[in-house]
Amino acid sequence: MIKIAVLASGRGSNMAAIMEAIERGDIDGEIKIVLSDKENAGALEKATAKGIENHWVNPKSFADRDSYEQELLRLIGECDLICLAGYMKILGEGFIANAPCPIMNIHPALLPAFPGLHGQRQAVEYGVKIAGCTVHFVDTGLDSGPIILQAAVNVLDDDTEETLAARILLEEHKIYPQAVKEFARGELIVDGRIVKRRSFQ
Ligand code: GRF
Repeated sequence: MIKIAVLASGRGSNMAAIMEAIERGDIDGEIKIVLSDKENAGALEKATAKGIENHWVNPKSFADRDSYEQELLRLIGECDLICLAGYMKILGEGFIANAPCPIMNIHPALLPAFPGLHGQRQAVEYGVKIAGCTVHFVDTGLDSGPIILQAAVNVLDDDTEETLAARILLEEHKIYPQAVKEFARGELIVDGRIVKRRSFQ
């Protein structure tokens, strides 16, 4: 069983999808801790409701990003996977280098298109006809790490950022738990920036 730490800044619906997959028995794992940079993050409430250790770690209480991130790592302790689930701060190189395990992220665009903030808005404004979401391992770049899974949705003529985001979110809730499940089963092999599946024969 893998131990998962979650970093989240907002409502935490992706985290909830991972929790449900654990409860269904799809993911052989447990969420050991949830940390947020936002005091009112829904993710913290959801963790409390499930009896999971959670903390608001206020970035303003620390002198700089390094000391903030050191505190995050201290709280995380030993774990097998760190899931970013709507965590809106960019992780520093120190965090990534010192993390005890791989870090995964979900991004609401088909990377490498539209990294950074507001992936769905970028897709609508650019006029692409297919948008979607990506689960990837985190490296020191912006949404640039090895891609684990992607899902596509059609962009409709009357889509707004909000309507597109809502349809993409449904796909996020499928592929993030799926990626964590594959990781927990030891199926993922990272070869450079290519993620492959181990075949168990
Ligand atoms: C999602 O759209 C995710 O792709 C992005 O931030 C949003 C988080 O939503 N990284 P939630 O907090 O998981 O509901």
